[in-house]
Amino acid sequence: MDIVFFNGEFLPKEKVSVSPDDRGFLFADGVYEVVRWYSGFFFDMEGHHSRLKRSLSELRIKWNDVESFPDIASELIRLNSLVEKPALVYFQVTRGAAPRTHTFPSPPVNPTTYGFAKTFIPESAGKENGISVMLKNDIRWARCDIKSIALLPNTMCFEEATSKGHGECIFIRNGYITEGSHSNIFFVTGGILRTHPESEHILSGITRKNVIKAASACGIKVEERAVHEDELKEVTEAFITNTSAEITPVTAFGGTPAGNGKPGPLTKLIHNKFREIVLSYAGKNS
Ligand code: PDD
Repeated sequence: MDIVFFNGEFLPKEKVSVSPDDRGFLFADGVYEVVRWYSGFFFDMEGHHSRLKRSLSELRIKWNDVESFPDIASELIRLNSLVEKPALVYFQVTRGAAPRTHTFPSPPVNPTTYGFAKTFIPESAGKENGISVMLKNDIRWARCDIKSIALLPNTMCFEEATSKGHGECIFIRNGYITEGSHSNIFFVTGGILRTHPESEHILSGITRKNVIKAASACGIKVEERAVHEDELKEVTEAFITNTSAEITPVTAFGGTPAGNGKPGPLTKLIHNKFREIVLSYAGKNS
């Protein structure tokens, strides 16, 4: 039986009922986080916690218990007997239930909070062999820095990418590569690791931040400078990053090979260093 967190309580998932007036349901008016549990500890819980607080504050949603997020996540792992398994905790906060109107409810209503934990099998084929990605115009809004639950363009584009045999959809805005439908993207050009700078056009990924740390620790020069689609022919390596898959090599853009079409040596080096960083969290927040 799945035990979930809902509005301050841990309860069987079947017992949850959400109001049809919930603004998450009516307007996708809410934010979320996904944190990875490495069979005994969370990876960079602090990073996820502060991003959750930032997303809430950008949308002016006040969740009084936000400081208890790490404890709730740990409790979800424990109550679902996942302590020794690889798992993900998903958590979302919406503005709450109020009669439908475009203005925010005044006075504010209690936010709706919902979280669950699930085990998963870390994907390995894509990591070993790399994936091809589809390139597509970035049809999303201009506040991609907020981890909002409004993900329709992301799901539509990812669905299109997978139906065409690609492993991710990568967005292009005004000629520049921004990020993926659920990942950030890095490129190696001229031995330099490049990724889009933090801005309103990308989500500031927790994996992205730690990959930058890992690359720097390996002595690789990192530039937070967007890559133009015309520069893709100069790319020798590319990879995407996210919480669930860590680092996945990209071996083709559409039908064109990325570099020599194989996972590259810097990608492997960075991934090994990233793994060391992950392991440094063991025992810190279990
Ligand atoms: N998505 N960019 C977007 C649009 C994302 O949705 C994600 C993560 C990332 C990578 O962020 P992080 O490294 O913090 O996971 C970048 C999560 C995994 C999801 O929606 O399930």
